[in-house]
Amino acid sequence: MALRRIAQLGHPVLREPTELVEPSEIGTEAVQRLIDDLIDTMREAQGAGLAANQIYERKRVCVMEVGNNPRYPYKPKIPLTVLINPVITPVGDATFESYEGCLSVPNLRGQVQRFAEVRVQALDRHGEPIDQVVRGISAGTFQHECDHLDGKLFIDHVTDPSTFCTWDNFDRYRRAAFVEHVGRVIALYGS
Ligand code: NI
Repeated sequence: MALRRIAQLGHPVLREPTELVEPSEIGTEAVQRLIDDLIDTMREAQGAGLAANQIYERKRVCVMEVGNNPRYPYKPKIPLTVLINPVITPVGDATFESYEGCLSVPNLRGQVQRFAEVRVQALDRHGEPIDQVVRGISAGTFQHECDHLDGKLFIDHVTDPSTFCTWDNFDRYRRAAFVEHVGRVIALYGS
């Protein structure tokens, strides 16, 4: 198990698009170790996901997992997912509002719009193709992680800066309404 440092806002690595992984590279020790380190570091930091450039590796690889996460107890579960070279395509125009935070943006949350339904095409850690449609809150998580791989952060999507808040003030002033809103999104989209 190797825990890696997580790049913080302002480090250029977070703003550079990552490089595609050659399919022949996926089985190498270097790429497999990168995936294991992403998983270990995400779990240790209690994140819902982590992208390779957040641990200073310029590769188009990200991981996601939501179980019983104390940082996001209202989030629907996502089984451990490894995406290599993901491409996200919106399915339809529907969007929903979400509150996001990020392990690379300390103590800040803000409200963003995300597509409610997206198609995700990628390779898994064995090089097998993934092609699935993800909906609702989980679709937001996939968009957040794939944005990282394009050098984008959730703060780029915040259109109303008055929604920015610390985690404490989120809990104090915004959380109750947001949890209700999440319930409506889950009822509509199933996740
Ligand atoms: Ni993030």
